[in-house]
Amino acid sequence: MPLSEFLAELDELAKAAMAAYESAADADALEAVRIQFLGAKSGRLKAVQKGLGKIDKADKPVAGKRFNEVKRQIEEGFARIKFAKAEDNLHIQQEVARHDPTIPGISPPLGHLHPITQTITEITDIMGRLGFTVTEGPEVEDHWHNFDALNIPAEHPARDPLDNFYLATAQKTTTAKPQAGWLLRSQTSTVQIRVMEQTSPPVRIISLGRVYRPDTPDATHVPMFHQIEGLLIDRHVTMADLKSVLRLFGTSYFEDDVHIRFRPSFFPFTEPSVEIDMSWHGGWVEMGGAGMVDPNVLRTVGYDPDQFTGFAFGLGIERMCAQRHGITDIREFYKNDVRFLHQF
Ligand code: PHE
Repeated sequence: MPLSEFLAELDELAKAAMAAYESAADADALEAVRIQFLGAKSGRLKAVQKGLGKIDKADKPVAGKRFNEVKRQIEEGFARIKFAKAEDNLHIQQEVARHDPTIPGISPPLGHLHPITQTITEITDIMGRLGFTVTEGPEVEDHWHNFDALNIPAEHPARDPLDNFYLATAQKTTTAKPQAGWLLRSQTSTVQIRVMEQTSPPVRIISLGRVYRPDTPDATHVPMFHQIEGLLIDRHVTMADLKSVLRLFGTSYFEDDVHIRFRPSFFPFTEPSVEIDMSWHGGWVEMGGAGMVDPNVLRTVGYDPDQFTGFAFGLGIERMCAQRHGITDIREFYKNDVRFLHQF
């Protein structure tokens, strides 16, 4: 066999092997191609090798060298393609891994309670420890609970339409009470009456909720705000009890040694009446009003003022929350700006 023919056969075989490797669809097909070309018994390389014996002795070294090169080429070709296909598989696996359902998800941003709601919860907890139960009253009130029963006379300026949100649509039908009609309550003191009308003494309640006044909004006023009302009725209750409760409450809420100062004031439903100031870092801050429940109010709800006395107080919740967090403008509470709200 001429050397050139043998060498051509080898080249042919190498090309065929590479083409077969490339077109193998999977690992099994690739292995079949390997056996087809490199199989020890009936592989095509083996068949070509037979031609080596018929080569002229002088040409043998060249033919043998070339045979070994092609053999290595076909073997390495197999290894290279197998590796490349394995890598492809790996990429597919990585693609799957990107959708791994066991990887923790991206949690959506969570909101939290509004600072005023948080304050209400805290105040409720503190007063609960002092033995006060929470009660609720309606925000749409009648004149009786907002004024009459609270000893506020018919001609009193507190009833001025400029100071109250009277409701034009829903007219109350009963004529039994001095003035008919509805309004958005201007104070939580309404709840004092509602509770005393329905329970006999002793009473020890708080009520927290929205109140409404047509004030022009500024740093310390908004037309809707929150109050906490406290009411304690029992035998032998004095102003000292009022001061003690407020001091314990303030100390607990502001987490500081809070002092209480009373300044003389006037409310139709308390006698005597005071403005409450609190101090814990130097200056005095006005927090609300209080006093001993007026005997007229006690009589109105059927309590005997000779047997029972009590105190009531009303504090602004926005003001308390603002004082604690150093907020200088309570309108911030109602702008719904999450940059402000998320700080609490
Ligand atoms: N209701 C009064 C106000 O809104 C506060 C107050 C409550 C005063 C209870 C005395 C007793 O200003």
